[in-house]
Amino acid sequence: MLRKVLLLASPLLSLGACPFGGEQGVLPDGHPAVAQETYAAALGDLDLDLVRSDLKAFFLKSQDHWPADLGNYAPFFVRLTWHCTGTYRSSDGRGGCEGGRQRFEPERSWADNTNLDKARALLWPVKAKYGDAISWGDLMVLAGTTAIESMGGPVLGFCAGRLDDKDGFESIELGPSEEQEAVAPCVLNGTCVSPLGSTTVGLIYVNPEGPLGNPIPAESALQVRDSFGRMGMNDSETVALIGGGHAFGKVHGACPAGAGPSPKEDPLNPYPGLCGTGKGKDTFTSGFEGPWTTTPNQWSNLYFNDLLNNDWEVHVGPGGHHQWRIPNATGPMAGIMRLTTDISLLHDPAGIYQKIVKEFAADQAKFDNAFAHAWYKLASRDMGPALRCLGQVAAPPFPWNPSLPARSSEFPPAWPQVKASLKEMARDYSKPIFPADVFSGQSYYGGLFLQLAWRCASTFRQTDYRGGCNGARIRFSPEKDWPANAELDGVLKVLDDVKARFGDALSWSDLIILAGTVAVEEAGGLPMSFCGGRTDATDGSGSEHLAPRLSPRPDTDLAFLVDGMKVMGLTRREFVALVGGGHTLGQMHASRSSFISGPWTSSPSRFNNEYFTNLLTEVYQEVSVQSGEKKYKAVGKELFMLKTDLFLKADPEFRIHVEEFALDNKAFLESYRAAWTKLVRSDRFDDPTGKLCE
Ligand code: HEM
Repeated sequence: MLRKVLLLASPLLSLGACPFGGEQGVLPDGHPAVAQETYAAALGDLDLDLVRSDLKAFFLKSQDHWPADLGNYAPFFVRLTWHCTGTYRSSDGRGGCEGGRQRFEPERSWADNTNLDKARALLWPVKAKYGDAISWGDLMVLAGTTAIESMGGPVLGFCAGRLDDKDGFESIELGPSEEQEAVAPCVLNGTCVSPLGSTTVGLIYVNPEGPLGNPIPAESALQVRDSFGRMGMNDSETVALIGGGHAFGKVHGACPAGAGPSPKEDPLNPYPGLCGTGKGKDTFTSGFEGPWTTTPNQWSNLYFNDLLNNDWEVHVGPGGHHQWRIPNATGPMAGIMRLTTDISLLHDPAGIYQKIVKEFAADQAKFDNAFAHAWYKLASRDMGPALRCLGQVAAPPFPWNPSLPARSSEFPPAWPQVKASLKEMARDYSKPIFPADVFSGQSYYGGLFLQLAWRCASTFRQTDYRGGCNGARIRFSPEKDWPANAELDGVLKVLDDVKARFGDALSWSDLIILAGTVAVEEAGGLPMSFCGGRTDATDGSGSEHLAPRLSPRPDTDLAFLVDGMKVMGLTRREFVALVGGGHTLGQMHASRSSFISGPWTSSPSRFNNEYFTNLLTEVYQEVSVQSGEKKYKAVGKELFMLKTDLFLKADPEFRIHVEEFALDNKAFLESYRAAWTKLVRSDRFDDPTGKLCE
């Protein structure tokens, strides 16, 4: 089935291929934009207020098979949402509640997710009532958000729009798994470092008992800062989230016997609970026991006041773990507890957490505001740019989620003229400010244009929808300072002339992508669709974690290459087409990401499959090693490859595509066009169905 979309293409423009393949203006079924559009329509028809009121009623109906603490499930669902969203990590954008992958391995069997199988089972009737109109990912975020609201807590809004995954594949790199060990090994679980989001694989952030189970608050504070920092949370957000989350509910550890097997170990009866009946007062979840406050179903800043106004002593609780109590307390206060991570907020060696705890204890409104914002950030960041949020969206701006400006009223420029200028510039043009490559005595900028466009677009992360060329942040720090982008500011200066000629009608980001696209077409690639309408950011914020992961440096290995490809959302075939296509034009420059100057092919201004032929037929040798740097040169020829190129030949799953493209130039050209179009459109949330495409 094909879906028609409205296109506003001008008949005067020469049409390239449809950006989505097939007939111009038609999205193939199964295209992510179609799935997103279908879900957006269903969600748009859903009365979210009704879902919220159903959730609020359901929280108060305790079920015998899993009785609610004090008759209210709301705190349990705050934990569910926190553990769904809290997997997000800035390093590669993985994690978060999108996909609803807490339902699958590996996440569902993480120690930190013990008994959340019960929460999801309890939620089923609500899911069943609304069916496909609300995804699991969205429902799990909405449940905790509504739970906070139901207990009087402050809520800013609800960013919806998550599509459900069919398995846990996208969480494999969160570990524990071989893939995680390959790209993010953790020598000693409990001391894991970035790019892992947590100090302990299987926990959301950090060991509640203290580092490696040692109840040392000052050391725990360091781990709390480190691990929350890896999620991009600052000190105030960290304290607000911990104190806000632990305003509610209790910890469960009735006896030392444990929770029993995980869903992976016993899918039919996971976490039966080995204390007494295994439920209610006999529940074992984390192995700690007790509530944080005397009013665990009610929003307040008591968590901070009780923390500050009492002494706390460590002891071993009924579940066999170190936890903290108020010495000699009587009455209800005798039951309240703290985890070492809670106590750590009083022992931050930097002295910062203590100040924030005091502020939140003294000023409820300040705490409300800080928590509402931090929760919204926590619960929305997997969704990427605010533009992607549906539902009951909080009003931007949010500093953690910079948006792009609106399109200029002068848009669009006269595309045929822009294209013609770029075509002319690719050859027979040399701007003294930045030297062109010279091949067969002729100056050539095409390879540089393509490299600029690739660098700009390839920051895109499918994992959290950040990056991409929209915004042209490659003009600003930090992107312009990345070693792989060295000297690309010179290429931008070459393009200055075109930018000046078309003024505000032409954004830098459209110009950069079009320059790369025209370079390929001009050199013999297939005609490509161009979808303008990108706008330019005014600074580089938002690019902090997007530095290239695919470096040809000596420490690069195959696992990193595969990982980088996955983060970009590319298949192996698409990746091979893009890398081969990119390395067909121009040459590598010793001053930039490589250590060599020289081309990959004998005709570096012609776009064809020679790169693949060379890769398979030439013998490449490591010709010299300077300070550990490796160069690969074809024996007897002035042709070069990078280590990353050689991986495409060495790895059988990449190599089948190298062989296919070496044998079939047409297949290569078509695959390149499809992969390039996908890459440069992947950040176009402003125009998901391609209304602006020609
Ligand atoms: C419960 C640890 C941060 C919300 C728990 C439990 C532990 C824990 C061990 C007990 C689970 C059980 O036995 O039932 C931590 C640590 C944190 C942290 C180490 C970070 C340093 C947060 C955050 C939130 C949150 C940021 C939400 C904003 C909750 C809630 C419960 C809970 C609501 C109670 C669930 C119930 O009553 O069933 N946490 N947590 N926690 N946590 Fe946290």
